[in-house]
Amino acid sequence: KQHFISNQALINKKVLVTAAGTIEAIDPVRYIGNRSSGKMGYAIAKQAALLGASVVLVSGPSYLPKPEGVTLIKIENALEMREMVLKEYKDADIIIKAAAVADYRPRTVEENKIKKNEERLILQLEKNPDILQELGQLKEKNQILVGFAAETQDLIKYAKDKIQRKNLDMIVANDVSLPGAGFNIDTNIAKIIYKDGKIENLDKMSKDELACLILDKIINKYYNVS
Ligand code: CTP
Ligand code: CA
Repeated sequence: KQHFISNQALINKKVLVTAAGTIEAIDPVRYIGNRSSGKMGYAIAKQAALLGASVVLVSGPSYLPKPEGVTLIKIENALEMREMVLKEYKDADIIIKAAAVADYRPRTVEENKIKKNEERLILQLEKNPDILQELGQLKEKNQILVGFAAETQDLIKYAKDKIQRKNLDMIVANDVSLPGAGFNIDTNIAKIIYKDGKIENLDKMSKDELACLILDKIINKYYNVS
């Protein structure tokens, strides 16, 4: 069934979105990164702005242009993303964490380019803070916190576990091993899972369509628009 959303449904609301992958420096010329393009987060930011929200998009490196009407804050690594998110979340009504944050960063960043002197090179990695989990602890009752989960197995089990562990209202779960889902493509096959355990299976759709649908669900569920 289709819900009607007025195109100003998010007026006077602040929406904070994170997008793209973080990159973690190894030395001045190298980094650890991931395959996230930023398409999902940028699509959400664009749609939220079209619905009248004041939108702040905190993004890792991405070739995508700044969506119109959105404040774009570019960062590189997870620690910088955390810092900007913690600066911006307090007055946000809706926080959507679509970013693929690197779970680990090199323990030290070499000052000079590493030379290929060793036959085997061991990189020591340190766990990054979980930004979403921190937000889950900090959030106020009226703030809506939405996470993403990309899995290659046991999608629902892991996604439900993340809802609990990170105190989320909703998670958008993707099986990235399916054709037509995942990184750097224009479509997704997602499941939306709510705090109460309810699951909605969505068809394969474009990331723009999925962005509309996610915002539509939030508006209808939490702002009682019908
Ligand atoms: N996330 C985050 N900070 C991190 C890691 C993840 O804010 N350091 C957020 C992501 O933006 C996403 C959600 O947590 O919204 C789930 O990310 P995911 O990588 O699926 O889960 P992890 O908790 O990192 O667990 P794992 O990678 O082991 O599955
Ligand atoms: Ca992770």
